[in-house]
Amino acid sequence: MFRIVTLNANGIRSAATKGMFRWIKRVDPDIVCLQEVKAHEVDIPAPLRARTGLHSFFHCAQKKGYSGAALYSKKRPRRVELGFGNAEFDAEGRYVLRTVRPVHYAIPDDGPVGRMLRAANRHPWRPAHIHFVISADGCEPVTTHIFDDSDPYLASDTVFAVKESLICRFIRHDTRDAAAARFGIEPPFDTVEFDFVLAPSRERVP
Ligand SMILES: [Fe+2]
Repeated sequence: MFRIVTLNANGIRSAATKGMFRWIKRVDPDIVCLQEVKAHEVDIPAPLRARTGLHSFFHCAQKKGYSGAALYSKKRPRRVELGFGNAEFDAEGRYVLRTVRPVHYAIPDDGPVGRMLRAANRHPWRPAHIHFVISADGCEPVTTHIFDDSDPYLASDTVFAVKESLICRFIRHDTRDAAAARFGIEPPFDTVEFDFVLAPSRERVP
C-alpha cells in the first residue's frame, strides 16, 4: 500500500523535539507533506533534514519563521516543482484566500425538484460549503467544495455531495491573535486550512 502522510508541523525544529520524526519513522509513509515548516532550509540542521532517510525538498517562505512547506519521499521523484509559478503566492510557500464564512442554504424547491424531494421525504438544505475550481499546468483540473464540520445538514446534504475528506474545521478567532496579525484582519473571524492535491495530467507532458 502506498502511504502519504500530511501534517501541519507548526515549526519543523519544534516538532522534531516533540517526536515528529520518530512518529514518521514508525508510520513508515512513502511520502510526507509538511506544512508550516517555519524555517529557512539553511536553518534546518542537516541531520533533521535527512532524519527520516527520505529524499527531502523544501519550499520556504521569504519571511523567516513563517509558513513554508516540505516534502519527503522514499523514491526520488522524477521531477520536483517548487511553488505555483506565481510570485504573490510563492513568497509564502502557500496561498491564502479570504471570503465570507458561508451558512447552509436551501436549493429551489418550488418546482419539480421540490415535488421530488417531498415525495422522497427529503429536505432541500445543503450544508455550508465553499466552492473551488482549481487548475495548474501539467495537472488535471478539479471542481470541488469544502464543508463546515459544524453544520447541522452535513449528514443529510440534499444533493449527496459531502465526502469525509472534504469536511473542515473552522477555527474561531475573537482576539487580535497571531493569525489576525498575519492576515491583517480585525476579529472576530474564522480560519480554515485545506490542502488541494491535483492529479498529474493524463496527457503526457513532453
Ligand atoms: Fe453551493
